[in-house]
Amino acid sequence: MKTQISFRQALYVGLILAAPIVTGLVLWWLFSLDGTLGLYQWMPEFRSIFIAVGALGVIAPFLALVARLVTRAHRALRVLAVAFAILGIIGPLAFGGYFLRASLEFSASTPPLLLIADGAGANGVPNLALVFRTEQETQNTLYYGVESLGEKIAEARATREHVLPLKDLKPGTRYQWRLNDGALCSFATPSNDALYHFGVSGDSHLGAGLSASTGGDPNVARSVLEYVTNPGNQFHAFFVVGDTVNLGSPNENWTIALETLAPFACGVPLRPLMGNHDAMINGAPHYLAYLYPEGMETPSGTRLYYRIDAGRVHIIMLKMLWGVGSFYAEQRAWFVKQMESIPSDDWTIVMMHSMVYSSGSVFGGYAWYDPVEMVQQVAPLLEKYKVDLVVSGHNHHIEFLQKNGVSYAIVGALGGALGPEASHKSPASVWYLPKQYGFLDATVRSDTIELHFRDLNGSELEAFNIAKNQ
Ligand SMILES: [Fe+2]
Ligand SMILES: [Fe+2]
Repeated sequence: MKTQISFRQALYVGLILAAPIVTGLVLWWLFSLDGTLGLYQWMPEFRSIFIAVGALGVIAPFLALVARLVTRAHRALRVLAVAFAILGIIGPLAFGGYFLRASLEFSASTPPLLLIADGAGANGVPNLALVFRTEQETQNTLYYGVESLGEKIAEARATREHVLPLKDLKPGTRYQWRLNDGALCSFATPSNDALYHFGVSGDSHLGAGLSASTGGDPNVARSVLEYVTNPGNQFHAFFVVGDTVNLGSPNENWTIALETLAPFACGVPLRPLMGNHDAMINGAPHYLAYLYPEGMETPSGTRLYYRIDAGRVHIIMLKMLWGVGSFYAEQRAWFVKQMESIPSDDWTIVMMHSMVYSSGSVFGGYAWYDPVEMVQQVAPLLEKYKVDLVVSGHNHHIEFLQKNGVSYAIVGALGGALGPEASHKSPASVWYLPKQYGFLDATVRSDTIELHFRDLNGSELEAFNIAKNQ
């Protein structure tokens, strides 16, 4: 006998099956994004949200199964199953849609940023690119030079996304530059005496969080950058070791970040790398669009991990969002290849968002100090290849540590809420300073790296000298 399936039955089965499929697809997409797995592992409150979203998808099929087995409350259970099926479709779609929508929004126009690019610059000076977006298609010219603005880089055609490369610069020079008829700017290039002089800090956490205004204080970054861009202080670069924004998905956080950083890009080339807060959730497209847009060259790396060569100084910038979870085989192989290509007499500096050695406390059941996997999997590589200095943020304090020949600096101090006094002091710690905003001022010379940890106004907090790790 042929069984006829009614429309109502088909709709019922369709709804019950759609809930776990939709939920599964949304969760699969979210977990395929940079940093989501780390968010789940490290943040209990987000873990609960993901589990609740996942549960929404399986309640309906579970109730439908029970309804088949239990005859007495059969009808009520089927109604409940349908209600949960609808919730199991709408809930995950709304959750995933929030992060999808947020990251599809981009600023039509952004202020010009002078960014440092991946690769080896001629004459020991890293290559740069002036990056900005305009609402209309425009054709721009970058004028630059030493005594006068005699050189120029003109865009070949009108466009809305602008990348003007500034390459093959001379060492020991103060360059002037101007975009079209804009303000006159200038920056200094490395010299024989100071092979590279850079400032570095991280975790400005600009903009707001998911539900509250938990963003960092932009005045800290402004104060630090005011010191760094003072021509008398002769910095060649400023690096941000991640967490530039507090949450990467809303575009308005990036607007705040770009407006905070841009006035200073006039006087010093910048290079922010991506931290876990920049990446979450679906924030990477914003990071890439504004801070490493397509069109900027990547001769030795990628747009998320790259190598900056300033003559004998080699800076390797890794994508290490929450910890070793980002250090997958491809990046690890790239890192080893870079390490093997650097001459042993040269200086090797590694920058990454999450830390290898650090003092810290327990949050959400996890130890935010000397993270075991980083110590086991990353530290041996840094030691093997005799890395001289590793700079990280992620923990919001200032610290200097040394272990097996490698020096480590923690500078998560660019404006995000400062962490509490550490409950665990790392055995590698040499000097630890909690509850202090500031940055690291590093000068690489031929036989030493001078480190000056400074507060947000540039006053020295502590100083160290690093000899070559050999
Ligand atoms: Fe942070
Ligand atoms: Fe972080």
